Amino acid sequence: MKGFTRYALKNLKSTGSVARSSKFLAKNLAKQIPADAKTVIELGAGDGIITKQLLEYMPQNATLTAYEISEQLLPLLKRIDHRRFKLKHASAMDIVQDFAIDSVDCLVSCLPLALFPLEMKHELLSHIKAVLKPNGTFLQYQYWLSDKALIQEYFPQLKLNWVPLNIPPSFVYTGTKDNNLEPRK
Ligand SMILES: C[S@@+](CC[C@H](N)C(=O)[O-])C[C@H]1O[C@@H](n2cnc3c(N)ncnc32)[C@H](O)[C@@H]1O
Repeated sequence: MKGFTRYALKNLKSTGSVARSSKFLAKNLAKQIPADAKTVIELGAGDGIITKQLLEYMPQNATLTAYEISEQLLPLLKRIDHRRFKLKHASAMDIVQDFAIDSVDCLVSCLPLALFPLEMKHELLSHIKAVLKPNGTFLQYQYWLSDKALIQEYFPQLKLNWVPLNIPPSFVYTGTKDNNLEPRK
């Protein structure tokens, strides 16, 4: 496996990107992990560029579980040697089987949401909301704001920030789970 960029270009439909994320984007996400987080999830770890920053910035007693569906990218992720890191070669959809309801402090999604069918986006966002603790943090980056309204159905108090130093420049959505609002059925 010769690196993420080559893989991404050959597999645009599953990666949705032409390059790995920049360190600026990775740090922007990692710095938003709550200081008291114990359980952190990453969806769509790719070659681990963001994973490594999450491991660096997460609290010392936190555990990071990363999901990556591509078998070809696994060797790159298996090189990450950290005692609080778990790698799952599985779909992001499996989080509801692997984590209890209301058990996750922070979930970072690098998934190419814009490429997913609408029903799959709804299923994924309702799974994410279900496993997050009340007041848990949801982070997602996206190159354009195509899914902002949809994400807001699940995370109404959505904040946005802009990371220009990325290819392409990216928006970062930050949502907080509010238990008073029921997710879409
Ligand atoms: C935009 S890339 C992000 C890679 C890396 N995290 C980064 O930011 O450079 C999206 C990644 O999500 C993975 N992916 C796509 N669908 C997935 C799914 N259903 N479950 C888990 N991973 C998935 C792709 O294989 C790809 O590695």
